[in-house]
Amino acid sequence: MHHHKLAIFASGSGSNAEQIIKYFSGHPQVQVIAVFTNKPQAGVIDRAEKLGVPVVVFDRSQLYDQGTVLQELQHRGIDAVILAGFLWLVPGSIIEQFPHKMLNIHPALLPKYGGAGMYGMHVHRAVLSAGETESGITIHEVNEEFDKGKIVFQATCAIEAQETPDSLVQKVHDLEHLHYPRVIEEWLLPP
Ligand code: GAR
Repeated sequence: MHHHKLAIFASGSGSNAEQIIKYFSGHPQVQVIAVFTNKPQAGVIDRAEKLGVPVVVFDRSQLYDQGTVLQELQHRGIDAVILAGFLWLVPGSIIEQFPHKMLNIHPALLPKYGGAGMYGMHVHRAVLSAGETESGITIHEVNEEFDKGKIVFQATCAIEAQETPDSLVQKVHDLEHLHYPRVIEEWLLPP
């Protein structure tokens, strides 16, 4: 049986990365090989290292100009890339090498509230100011435009009258942690 080797890309606290690493630890067919981050101070670094997963830190030029990040992925035999709160656009040179092999999670119900600049609290504030009665998560394949690839999975949560950006981020994170690892597994290993 084919063994899948995952790289997780993250720029932030890494709570999703942590759930994914834990879910696949000891998995017979899927292994998280490394966490890639553009942020030397990101919380994800500590979380990954505590779980024994190597971390690759890179800068803008290594991603967009020098091809270093792509080389690192190839060198490690990565065959699927999981974005978990990664905030830079993935360059076409990488997307080309991972056709239908990159997933992203977005903290709202795409196609609304996506695109450049729509990340983290910006998304939740926009959803609340628009007076939406529900929000949720979208897991989708990655293409060369922010938040535009094929949708693989969505889950919703209700927005209450008293909802704040902080309470909404908590609900959305709960949905992400509940669903993302399993959706990755099913996407990699269709029944
Ligand atoms: C997650 O809510 C994820 O959906 C969001 O960043 C957060 C990262 O949290 N991604 C985006 O906004 C991408 N546009 P984490 O670092 O705790 O996993």
